[in-house]
Amino acid sequence: MKDIPQLDWATLPFGYQKTDYNVRCTFTDGKWGEPEVSESETINIHMAATALHYGQEIFEGLKAFRGVDGKVRIFRLEENAKRIRESAKGLCMEPVPEELFRKMIIKVVELNARFIPPYGSGASLYIRPFEIGMTASVGVRKAVDYLFMVLVSPVGPYFKTGYAPTKICIMREYDRVAPKGTGRWKVGGNYAASLSAGERAHALGYSAVLYLDPKDKKYLDECGPANFFAIKDGVYITPESESILPSITNMSFQQLAADHGLEVQCRHITVDELESVQEAAACGTAAVASPVGEIDDLDTGKKYIIAKDGKPGPVTTMLYNHLRAIQHGEEPDIYGWNTVLDI
Ligand code: PLP
Ligand code: COI
Repeated sequence: MKDIPQLDWATLPFGYQKTDYNVRCTFTDGKWGEPEVSESETINIHMAATALHYGQEIFEGLKAFRGVDGKVRIFRLEENAKRIRESAKGLCMEPVPEELFRKMIIKVVELNARFIPPYGSGASLYIRPFEIGMTASVGVRKAVDYLFMVLVSPVGPYFKTGYAPTKICIMREYDRVAPKGTGRWKVGGNYAASLSAGERAHALGYSAVLYLDPKDKKYLDECGPANFFAIKDGVYITPESESILPSITNMSFQQLAADHGLEVQCRHITVDELESVQEAAACGTAAVASPVGEIDDLDTGKKYIIAKDGKPGPVTTMLYNHLRAIQHGEEPDIYGWNTVLDI
């Protein structure tokens, strides 16, 4: 094996870092081929491919962690395998068989083992599977050929502040998805549609946009590239919506919250209700749990100060610590969430 790369693991940003290999598989003539290992960072794509013109692109995000016992744990890959199949159905793409997904994820992690950040560094190996439509077409129609690939990159925290309360904002001028649109799938176009709102929020000093439901603009939806949850009088509340991505991190927190005696409510949350919550957070693979200290409604001028002492709340911290402990093998994985590799 090659040397351990000389990276400053503790200060890694959440970004792309070249690694040794990626893994690719094509769907042609009605069947998936054999996965191939590649050292190339580029792909060869027809200039008229449906991915480029009509947005047939879906992706996933998951992480591998080096544990306290030296083993590597990939978190809930079966859930990502299911979700990318749902996204594929949503965009009339070819669903990747779960076993192929699993095999390719394990392969790419094993091949890039030297890039898995050491235990205790706070960093992890981000795994980015994605699928694109490859067939040349000028008419609007689905592709018949697809490419499914997995790349990895060692990453640090998504929000620059790390585990500290951030400020987010509500802006009714923008929606990232339509009421019965693509929000429930992990589709590249959703992120393109969020860029202008995100840029504006960043320019104003906010770390993310808290989107409202696109139909009534009344209920909280999700928080940039993450779900939203709040803690209110010992209850874990999180939005129920057709236009948000079903977050695997949120699903895991709901389980952990219930296990630690909290009631869990998945329901509509009005903007006004922010007045009475004690804690709030953005949650996702990249964000893990990022405490939200303040939410500014830029349309009404109202500021919801959640973290009154400027510190992450106790329940959010408890959930965050348990999740991280399971991911790093410090606590028993009673639900079998981890795929453990001895590499
Ligand atoms: N919502 C959006 C829009 C996302 O991009 C993500 C990230 O994957 C999430 C929520 C969180 O989902 P998960 O916890 O499965 O990473
Ligand atoms: C993730 O949390 O995995 C994401 O996909 C978020 C973002 C980087 C798109």
